[in-house]
Amino acid sequence: MHEPFMRRCFDLAKRGAGLVSPNPLVGAVAVRDGKIIAEGLHARHGDPHAEAHLFLNAKVDLAGATLYVNLEPCCHTKKLTPPCAPQIIEKKIAHVVIANLDPNPQVSGGGVKMLEAAGIKVTTGVLKDEGERLNEIFFHRMRTGLPFIHLKSAATLDGKTALPSGESKWITSDFSRQDSHYGRRLYDAIVVGAQTIRSDNPQLNVRLKGEVIEKQPYRLIFTKSGKLPREAQVFTDENRHRTIIVTDLHTTIDALPPQQVIRLETLEPFPFEKFNEQLFERGIYSLWLEGGADLHSLFLQYKKVNRMTLYLAPKIMGEGKAMFTHSEDSLQNLLTLEGMDIQLLGSDLKVTGLV
Ligand SMILES: NC(=O)c1ccc[n+]([C@@H]2O[C@H](COP(=O)([O-])OP(=O)(O)OC[C@H]3O[C@@H](n4cnc5c(N)ncnc54)[C@H](OP(=O)(O)O)[C@@H]3O)[C@@H](O)[C@H]2O)c1
Repeated sequence: MHEPFMRRCFDLAKRGAGLVSPNPLVGAVAVRDGKIIAEGLHARHGDPHAEAHLFLNAKVDLAGATLYVNLEPCCHTKKLTPPCAPQIIEKKIAHVVIANLDPNPQVSGGGVKMLEAAGIKVTTGVLKDEGERLNEIFFHRMRTGLPFIHLKSAATLDGKTALPSGESKWITSDFSRQDSHYGRRLYDAIVVGAQTIRSDNPQLNVRLKGEVIEKQPYRLIFTKSGKLPREAQVFTDENRHRTIIVTDLHTTIDALPPQQVIRLETLEPFPFEKFNEQLFERGIYSLWLEGGADLHSLFLQYKKVNRMTLYLAPKIMGEGKAMFTHSEDSLQNLLTLEGMDIQLLGSDLKVTGLV
């Protein structure tokens, strides 16, 4: 009986996609006699939390109601907004139903304890797997201190991403490409290798039919040579100030302010710890890798990819660019995906799993 209300929380939470980072996606509904009487969500970073938003929206007294929220209400004060658990107590909510406990060490069960100590009934774990998936970026950073990295590739059924000439537009359908823009929107930055900029001159932004995108992700471009065409869209469009080049200390990069260049002492071996520090300084906590093969293999070789999504068109290319360029020397070491989810998008196959 709890599930439909928790699903409604997930739907509300998703409206904050691309806007709440580094916070989690959270939705809340208040229910009385089996009917929703108020709703709320965390819409933007710095805006009220979902529970507080619901209290602001509520047109009726909430005393005795059941509150559904996909993440444990917070109880800590070191943040932009006041804690939610005391507000729930003040509103005399009778029962709180939660999908996931908050792994943030400043909460981590503390919100539940505060509510229970005030005599409120608390139920946890409702649709917890879906809740975990919805906030995998946030949960991963809270548990590991690392950015969540999602690799996406579009290929033919025989795993080719471009013709030998480099031409790759388009292999998959419009439907798959729209779907991948929903993926992009969840990430703080889209990452490509320099060769993809030189071959494709991509826009690397989020485009969703009928939607105005309030905040575009950063674009990160990896280069050793520094050879990047300055007329490329990523350097000339309205989001050009959100394009960042990743290179070493010595490569010449003209006409970009220092905050738009991540300089690392060495690129081989690639210093992921230093790289992450520079990402966090810029407010980047999650990466969406968009190719090409070299860039993907750099992250795969160092085992830095958390989720992989492949869009496969029902086409065969034969000779062409492979999805990846690295090699393994033993079948025991092959990279393996878990928790596979397979969908048909029109006639393309979408395959996603945790690496
Ligand atoms: N179907 C798809 O989903 C898809 C998506 C993206 C791209 N593509 C296709 O893939 C092709 C490009 O792929 P690609 O594998 O040739 O190239 P790529 O991965 O896009 O870029 C490779 C470049 O990345 C830079 N790089 C590599 N390792 C680095 C490191 N450790 N540190 C810093 N920079 C590093 C180097 O740039 P410098 O040369 O400047 O030193 C290298 O040449 C294009 O044909 C494109 O159309 C297809």
